[in-house]
Amino acid sequence: MKNKIKQKVFSGIRATGQLHLGNYLGAVKGMLALQETHDCIFSVVDLHTITTPYDPDSLQNSILEIAIDYLAAGLDPKKCKIEVQSFVPEHIELAYLLSTIYPVSRLQQLPTYKDKTLQHPKYQNMGLLFYPILMAADILLYKTELVPAGVDQEPHIEVTREIARKFNAMFGETFPEVKRMETVGEYVPSLLGTGKMSKSVPGSYINLADSPDVIYEKMSKAKTDSGPQSKMSKLPEEGAVANLFKIFGLFDVKRAKVFESQYLEGSIKYMEMKETLAEVIIEVLQPIREKRNDLERNKEYVKKILLEGSIEARHEAKINLNEVKQKMGLI
Ligand code: TRP
Repeated sequence: MKNKIKQKVFSGIRATGQLHLGNYLGAVKGMLALQETHDCIFSVVDLHTITTPYDPDSLQNSILEIAIDYLAAGLDPKKCKIEVQSFVPEHIELAYLLSTIYPVSRLQQLPTYKDKTLQHPKYQNMGLLFYPILMAADILLYKTELVPAGVDQEPHIEVTREIARKFNAMFGETFPEVKRMETVGEYVPSLLGTGKMSKSVPGSYINLADSPDVIYEKMSKAKTDSGPQSKMSKLPEEGAVANLFKIFGLFDVKRAKVFESQYLEGSIKYMEMKETLAEVIIEVLQPIREKRNDLERNKEYVKKILLEGSIEARHEAKINLNEVKQKMGLI
């Protein structure tokens, strides 16, 4: 159909260092698919970044690094808009407005708030409690319908739906119902045997920018177990080796199957599997790494993309924010 309006998509990544495979498979691959068919805005959410300890001197660089990862992975500014959250101050204004219709007690119960305050007991702050409201504002500012994000973001997306419903009930139909887009790799296990790949756990992850040497080294340190002693009736369901099979399967199902049968026969050599997995990952990341190196040398171009994307996004943001203010009786 010719004039069919494309569905709105928004997603954001915090500017805390470089992207790793978990971000790539969990969020970025979804973004890549959606930019072909949907009306997408992808954000570097710097205002969320500052809710946990960070270094102000390197924040600008961290923002650029995420943008470089976005572009290197294949986001195309001709097909989607890439913004920096703080370049569009309407995010903050909408967040404040939405905060007036949402209870504090619900925010205190959220698992991410509890986790982060435990992780940084000396860095408890209002911004951290406010985090889900700002995220809801990110999403609702563009009347987003679909959010590609990892499964850990589901509680925040539920908050977004609650806010949208309440706003619609109080002030009239304004926001659509938002859904999270599930991706196959939304839970990428850690290389350390427990939990998921996470920037805050050293040794658990592989970065998109890691060189082949670093990938081999990280993979050689990945945890395994003492190995099958004889023929096995089934594959492990949890633990370090199950995780490695899972990561392998996310990249190359065929080659993963070879090692899975070796496991069942009791003949698997973990070192060999880890080396092959490293090779597979290096192969997938090679074009991304090359493009990344080009962009690193051309940061002015990256800054221009961010500025242009933010200006375009802001235009839409202003229209929607105006509607909200009108409905709330502020103008
Ligand atoms: N909270 C998300 C994370 O930590 C980042 C984020 C902020 C986001 N705003 C968003 C994700 C809006 C999706 C949509 O990964």
